Amino acid sequence: MKADLVVKNAGQLVTVAGHSKKAKRGRDLGELAIISGGAVAVRDGLITAVGKTGAVMEQIELTGDGRIIDAGGKVVLPGLVDPHTHLVFAGSREDEFEMKIKGSAYLDILAQGGGILSTVRSTRAAGESELAGIGKKYLAEMLSQGTTTAEVKSGYGLTTDDELKQLRAIQALRDGQPVELVATFLGAHAIPEEYKENPEAFVGLIIDEMLPAVSRAGLAECCDVFCEEGVFSVEQSRRILQAAQRRGFKLKLHADEITPLGGAELAAELGALSADHLVAITRQGIEKLAASQTVAVLLPATTFCLMGEKYAPAREMIDAGVAIALAGDFNPGSSPVNSLPVVMGIACRQLKLTPAEALAAVTINAAHAIGRAISVGSIEVGKKADLVIFDAHDYRSIAYRLGTNLVEKVIKSGCLVVGG
Ligand code: NIG
Ligand code: FE
Repeated sequence: MKADLVVKNAGQLVTVAGHSKKAKRGRDLGELAIISGGAVAVRDGLITAVGKTGAVMEQIELTGDGRIIDAGGKVVLPGLVDPHTHLVFAGSREDEFEMKIKGSAYLDILAQGGGILSTVRSTRAAGESELAGIGKKYLAEMLSQGTTTAEVKSGYGLTTDDELKQLRAIQALRDGQPVELVATFLGAHAIPEEYKENPEAFVGLIIDEMLPAVSRAGLAECCDVFCEEGVFSVEQSRRILQAAQRRGFKLKLHADEITPLGGAELAAELGALSADHLVAITRQGIEKLAASQTVAVLLPATTFCLMGEKYAPAREMIDAGVAIALAGDFNPGSSPVNSLPVVMGIACRQLKLTPAEALAAVTINAAHAIGRAISVGSIEVGKKADLVIFDAHDYRSIAYRLGTNLVEKVIKSGCLVVGG
């Protein structure tokens, strides 16, 4: 069999195989399918063979311009998948960082016209190419830390034109850099100042004008809503998401982050791809998610950056059979963190995930949370050859060495894009 790339001699080839159809749950979450002394063969960007180095080398014939990368006994993982980011925005919010240190609450800052609304002002003032340029820089940081696929939301425009501008910036980000992007329309991210007195009219604008325009332009695959007290109610979220579903969008939901409103239940009821945050999820919400295919995307870096005392009840969710994933939630307010290894490190320490569970949560389960598990998230024949070589001999080092970037090489669709 011909191969144009082989990665051989991985001390631990962590395949996370066998879960492309259904996300990992319960005890299975920590079962990683590791091949010691493993190798991966690739042809035209897709994986063609996976196994012990000797067995793979016997099967393949390298093409003329083919390349062999010797992993030298190090750890090789599937490319990491970040299923929740707000990557495209202008400005930054160091002032709020300091306010939070001194005791201001996130929702109070928002209610006073700061928070998301301050980023809305700077994003509205920025042009499309400026936004794409800023996003490109952050995306390069993510790639250098192992992320090869990421979801990216709009939600800092909050007018039809500005939301479209942000989504076009996401589209422009796809050119000239290798990270694969899934775009999400998040027009329901906050009530903009001009609709403060009439939030219902803003819900109407989203349903009657924004959703049709985004759908016509074909700029987003998913639709998300920030369902929270003082932002969008469960009933408003349901109306927006159902309208989106009718137009063919897949659904996601910022749910039960600060107040237990029942967002998890709504996400499960509507068959959403994911319900995200869930710090304040109730027992009923956990049971509804466990009985659904909706993935619980947990964002422990957000809780850490908001200096929260309470984290999402991850162990309770795992024990109840909820499929969980992890994400960075990269944004200028609640989580200026775009490193999935850092998120894994926080998840192990604060959510009490084992390193193996954290790893499955940023690969195959994260891929399920964005509807991409058929093509990415594990090392299996037929999938995209997205691989990360870490300068480590034990996969647990990645979460353990919190804050040190151990990524040595990144391969996206068979191309060496970091560490050439
Ligand atoms: O997921 N919770 C709402 N949205 C973002 C925060 C965005 C911001 O603060 O700019 C989140 O944490
Ligand atoms: Fe978010």
